[in-house]
Amino acid sequence: MAFFERTLHAGKAGTAALFRTLLALIVALTLAPDATAEEKFSFASTFGQLPKNVVPQHYDLTITPDMKTLTFKGSESITIDVKVTGNTIVVNALDLNITRALLDGEPKQKAAVKLDQKEQTATLTFPENLRAGQHKLQLEFEGKLGEQSQGLYYAKYQTDQGEKVMLATQMEPTDARRMFPCWDEPVFRTTYQLTTILPQKFTAVSNMPIESEKAGENDSKIVTFGRTPQMSSYLMVLVAGELESLAGEAEGVQLRVVTTEGKKAQGQYALEAAKKLLPFFNEYFGFKYSLPKLDLIAVPGGFGGAMENWGGITFNESILLFDPKTSSQATQQAIFDVLSHEMAHQWFGNLVTMAWWDNLWLNEGFASWMATKATAHFNPEWDYWTRANSTKSYVMGNDAQKTTHPIQQRVTNPSEAARVFDEITYLKGQAFIRMLEAYLGESAFRQGIRSYITAHQFSNTTTVDLWDALGKASGKPVREVAAGWTEQPGFPLISVSSTCQDKVRQLTLEQKRFTVNDPNPSPLEWQVPVAIGRVGSNDAAEYVLLNKKATLPVGDCQSPVKLNISDVGYYRVSYDPATFAELVNAAKSKLSDADRLNLMSDAWALAEAGLGSSTAYLDVVEAVRGENSVGVWEQIIGRLLTIDNLQIKRPGREAFRAYGRSVLSPVLARISWDAKPGEQATISVLRSRLIGALGVFKDEAVIAEARNRFRAFLQNPQSLPADLRGPVFSVVGRYGDKVVYDQLHALGRQSRSTEEKRQFYGAMQGALDARLAEENLRLALTDELAPTDAAYSLFRVAVAGEHAELALEFAKKHMKELQGKLSAFGSNAYAPSLFEVFSESARADELEAYAKLNLPIEAQPDVAKSAESIRSAAAFKARELIKIDQWITLHAK
Ligand code: BES
Ligand code: ZN
Repeated sequence: MAFFERTLHAGKAGTAALFRTLLALIVALTLAPDATAEEKFSFASTFGQLPKNVVPQHYDLTITPDMKTLTFKGSESITIDVKVTGNTIVVNALDLNITRALLDGEPKQKAAVKLDQKEQTATLTFPENLRAGQHKLQLEFEGKLGEQSQGLYYAKYQTDQGEKVMLATQMEPTDARRMFPCWDEPVFRTTYQLTTILPQKFTAVSNMPIESEKAGENDSKIVTFGRTPQMSSYLMVLVAGELESLAGEAEGVQLRVVTTEGKKAQGQYALEAAKKLLPFFNEYFGFKYSLPKLDLIAVPGGFGGAMENWGGITFNESILLFDPKTSSQATQQAIFDVLSHEMAHQWFGNLVTMAWWDNLWLNEGFASWMATKATAHFNPEWDYWTRANSTKSYVMGNDAQKTTHPIQQRVTNPSEAARVFDEITYLKGQAFIRMLEAYLGESAFRQGIRSYITAHQFSNTTTVDLWDALGKASGKPVREVAAGWTEQPGFPLISVSSTCQDKVRQLTLEQKRFTVNDPNPSPLEWQVPVAIGRVGSNDAAEYVLLNKKATLPVGDCQSPVKLNISDVGYYRVSYDPATFAELVNAAKSKLSDADRLNLMSDAWALAEAGLGSSTAYLDVVEAVRGENSVGVWEQIIGRLLTIDNLQIKRPGREAFRAYGRSVLSPVLARISWDAKPGEQATISVLRSRLIGALGVFKDEAVIAEARNRFRAFLQNPQSLPADLRGPVFSVVGRYGDKVVYDQLHALGRQSRSTEEKRQFYGAMQGALDARLAEENLRLALTDELAPTDAAYSLFRVAVAGEHAELALEFAKKHMKELQGKLSAFGSNAYAPSLFEVFSESARADELEAYAKLNLPIEAQPDVAKSAESIRSAAAFKARELIKIDQWITLHAK
């Protein structure tokens, strides 16, 4: 899930909406919605692999893990409703051995069981036809515990008493079937009652509170949890181990942060955040949280990000636990963001669930949008909406490629279900919802969400159900507008030209599909809610729903006009040169942070598309050098690092780095290495990025200072503030020798915190020294790191350490072993992403050839996508770097 390695940013859109335009609304409604668009939810018409002749109603499930043999035994009694008689039942099961299958406890209704590994099903064939109506299906089975986070798995972690092991589950999208035979598709909502038999010393957590606990045989205990509400199988959770917890309460709901022993104090921050978020969501959704309790469970090790299991959310501990002494501001922001995302799912996803995986974006796009909204609401000083430009720009970059796809995608099997968890689903989904909310108005939008949640509680939906609710609440043609954005790939570029007639500014807007390196795309059109404002005015932006083309008067000719006010739209804008020049002029003083950032990000995107020059972007950088907006600087730092990376092995690199230093060091000087009392929290995020970037640009003063601070840290760890740890370690590690490497290594080994371990090992992995790079690569094959962290360490070696070649060759040699460390999830994109570190088109050819011989067919979409990115980067390099080199010569100071 590489795109989650996004920097999590913050930001509130400067409400500095510009001003009022006297718009004649010229809205031609062409682009009739496609009549083939999807339908409202119905159980019968929902796609799935399993037949619907038999429907489950309730599971009584018992799981007995054996921690010595790393296996488990299970039994279940499923209440089923036979709708259509026949003598077979098909359920999902994967890597399970089903030892017995009986109907209603009758010895003569004992089924023959046929497992199909490829379909991931078990077909139970009974001697006699099943009568229509209710029955009990009783199954006994056994399975293995793995170390990858799929189904019921184990996680190892270090403690002062040695290595320990705990159990956890990860079911989404299709791995509940690895723990128990079940109808593992989201539309089969049922109740569940789970019992588990565990070692005495284990504490167990599941979706519901514990209902009973009693002693079992041989030092075991039998724990039974309460019955869940009707829910989808992918939301089931079981975590068990030597755990402790911190408890609180909000609006009658018991809240806990559950951790491994010794860490509960670090749950304080998340607990306080949850106490604020629960009432916020109760209010927003107009529907009270459905369960008596909500546990936030910290899982150590390599388990991905976080999972919204109903009533028992799991998190990688690095994004749940906060230690004020060692955790950074960026971590704190990530915790709030991720927690908001997973809590939003408790309604949007759990209470109301997409019918099938082709509508996953309903879950993930919405939760991502809501996370930004809630985070911005509670932490305005983090500037979250402004900084959301970065993830939006990232996904627009991908969405401009040939290999992109619509938000709604066909899904027919588990591998496709895993694939839809991508940046289009999350980030385009979130950006589109934001644009729609702005267009409909915050309160109409919210009213629509409330009625959607109420109408579909404890049930499933499709995208159309949401559009209908929003359409009703707002009175706007939501279904028609939205279809173009969720059912078509890509997005539009709006070209703007401005003329003056009788002292009235006439604006001509025209849309065309925006693409990168794809000169003949299918010519799509959208209904674009364009926000227009006049620079310097305080009036709210005006919306025009643009179809093909429109000309409109926008007041007098004095003040310039800007589109995509507050950066809320999912489209790019290209201005005529005179208007662009006016806007650059205004950028410094008259545009809000969000608008300035939007202008810059459009300028960069136009350069990527070959519709503008990257030097136009650098011109804007010159214009805003004096500024302190964190969002703007994060973007500039990102672009400068991109260019620097493309400059590797080119003669222009030195001069470019000198330029980078000249831009960034005055900013670091302004905010200084040490936090000032009362400074805005997010300044420390900026400080850490600046130090990191100046380190990459080989700023001698920064390197020397980082080394000093590291020396002091080795003497006295308290001397280094939490926020400086990451950047200091990474600068020191980058230029470090074997001595420094070993110091970082010892620190990494000693640490018990996933966040800290990642900082130390990350710093080692960024070493420029080739011998150290090789040492890092060897480490990836050991089990010193959590499996996924080990596999992904190659990316740090390739990018931060600038040893792409070494990393790729190593990966090719050990591909099997490395892949073995990933769950089905990351596995398809792994090899292609390693090639994507390069920017020469020969590498794209090499990837394609490599894939033919070495990668499964399921990896093909990732291969195509990475190959296209490499070719786009190569084209950009060929076109832009010469211009950049010349521009640098002119601007060298
Ligand atoms: N539902 C997902 C967890 C998930 C991700 C399950 C991928 C299966 C595959 C969860 O809500 C989520 O999106 N988690 C993110 C973090 C989130 C804050 C963006 C993750 O795990 O990366
Ligand atoms: Zn999610």
